[in-house]
Amino acid sequence: MSKIFKGTKPSRRSFLRGALAGGGALAGGAAWADADPAIVEKQPWNQYLGDGVDARPYGVPSKFEEHVRRQDVPWLTADPISSVNFTPLHELDGIITPNGLCFERHHAGIAEVDPAQHRLMINGLVDRPLVFTMQDLMRFPRENHVYFLECAANSGMEWAGAQLNGCQFTHGMIHNVMYTGVPLRLLLAEAGVKTEGKWIMVEGADASGMNRSIPMEKALDDCMIAFKMNGEALRPEQGYPVRLVVPGWEGNMWVKWIRRIEVGDKPWHAREETSKYTDLLPDGQARRFTWEMDAKSVITNPSPQAPITHGPGHTVLTGVAWSGRGTIPRVDVTLDGGINWQPARMSGPSFDKSMHRFYFDFDWDGKPLLLQSRAHDSTGYVQPTKDQLRAIRGENSIYHNNGIQTWAVNEQGVAENVEIS
Ligand code: MTE
Ligand code: CO
Repeated sequence: MSKIFKGTKPSRRSFLRGALAGGGALAGGAAWADADPAIVEKQPWNQYLGDGVDARPYGVPSKFEEHVRRQDVPWLTADPISSVNFTPLHELDGIITPNGLCFERHHAGIAEVDPAQHRLMINGLVDRPLVFTMQDLMRFPRENHVYFLECAANSGMEWAGAQLNGCQFTHGMIHNVMYTGVPLRLLLAEAGVKTEGKWIMVEGADASGMNRSIPMEKALDDCMIAFKMNGEALRPEQGYPVRLVVPGWEGNMWVKWIRRIEVGDKPWHAREETSKYTDLLPDGQARRFTWEMDAKSVITNPSPQAPITHGPGHTVLTGVAWSGRGTIPRVDVTLDGGINWQPARMSGPSFDKSMHRFYFDFDWDGKPLLLQSRAHDSTGYVQPTKDQLRAIRGENSIYHNNGIQTWAVNEQGVAENVEIS
């Protein structure tokens, strides 16, 4: 916390050495030293004119933020065309993921779709098969909602034990965006769903033609055909010009570059809901149609990519939590591996099926920490430990790992991905 001078101008000589005088200092800082050129000398940016308003017609972050990047995991990326990269959760705050940092998952690369040539078709068990242009879609009443999208495979590499060193890699297959779009129910009503129509099949226009079955109940509830994210057009990576939004349900169902919706009387049993996105249980049976994302949370700072660098004293711990079933009224935090739990401070808007931000401000004594967070959702569901999860699901799974994450922090403030039981 820096000292604010009111009315008097501090001279170079008047700077005090040592700690802040008086109470109220939370985090120290402001050890006033006349030797610090950063405050007593003129900096380059004081002395030259900067870029004009014509220099940056589409803004990008400061060059000092260039390390804030989506990243892939090389050993997971045999071929970048059909792979995944991860959101740098440890560099973000609040609840909205900036468009350029939303993780990407493609089965056949990024389709570059011309919106003028793009069409969305509704066929199957409907009174009137319809084909919409983008302009047609934009004339339906639209809505705005903030939702998280989590790939069902998020944290999938962690089933066998602690693997990846960083919340970007263990938990970064998630983004949280404000979508603008048309409720799917309005488009289905326009086509007129026949009484036998109990399912829809949604299909993408990319080379993978990715498709999934969705029960009609969900389609008529809160699904959206979205064309804007965080106020601007969808990014090509996220399905430009139009994608399906399936709030709270696994990311694979959120078909990008959506071009067709077929209404049927039963599920299609597509590849992505049989051979993939099913979980083999210890008894040899597989769970399927596990659409909802269970409540989950992760501490983003401190974490392996974001160690404590300031030494003992006031420390800001923060993280995110979400649930496919509602809101997150409460997150607990432990500093000692689950012996003592304390409620975190929730901050920011609490939207249904959206990410939530939590903080836990504490005085670090410089001793090792075992950090964990535990989310409670609005249905009363509590995030399980990894051991509790494995007791039911075994170790064959990839998908739907929402177990509690542990970071071990040592005396130097360095954090590491560990498991404790
Ligand atoms: N839609 C199409 N058409 N093609 C795809 O490869 N990938 C799916 C889904 N929709 C995919 C798709 C998967 S597995 C996920 S997790 C999400 O999109 C990822 O969305 P994102 O790239 O916006 O993060
Ligand atoms: Co996915």
